[in-house]
Amino acid sequence: MAIMTAPPSDAKTIVDVPNNYKHLVERLSPGGRYIDVQSDDDSPWVPFGDNAAIKHLAFDVRQNLFSNILWVKGPGTIGTHLHRGTITMVCLEGSVRYLEYDWVASPGGLIIEVPGESHTLVTEHPQGVKLFGWMQGPIEFYDAQARLVETADVWWYINHYETYCNANGIAINPKLYL
Ligand SMILES: [Fe+2]
Repeated sequence: MAIMTAPPSDAKTIVDVPNNYKHLVERLSPGGRYIDVQSDDDSPWVPFGDNAAIKHLAFDVRQNLFSNILWVKGPGTIGTHLHRGTITMVCLEGSVRYLEYDWVASPGGLIIEVPGESHTLVTEHPQGVKLFGWMQGPIEFYDAQARLVETADVWWYINHYETYCNANGIAINPKLYL
């Protein structure tokens, strides 16, 4: 069998690919989708404190998975939190660092956070930071005295989105629910 070294077709046409289970995919798959981020048509910015906002992009209650863009609008801090799952984030704009680590994330950079880590997010950039996140598992938020305040899981993120929509007459977007 030949080894593929490049995509085998560049035909600008839809190929009817064989799939023995197409009927199951059609019946059971939630389907791929596009969520627009540039406008607020698919999802509004929901305030997260005075200096930050979250644009919710996806919720999956089966896997406790949630995706969003976190926007810290100027120099600021998201206080120490502990992860119980895995976080994948891309810095879109501005910059961000963590008090616990020696690197600074800049646009295009990938941040991976793993279960058991606690850390303190700081942006010193004049425009703050925008972070795209694909996140799984609960996040424990602590106050400055190390007291657990809230465990934020997919249900917290759904509630954050829906309560804002309901209070502002914005329709809940079914595309955000996988
Ligand atoms: Fe984190």
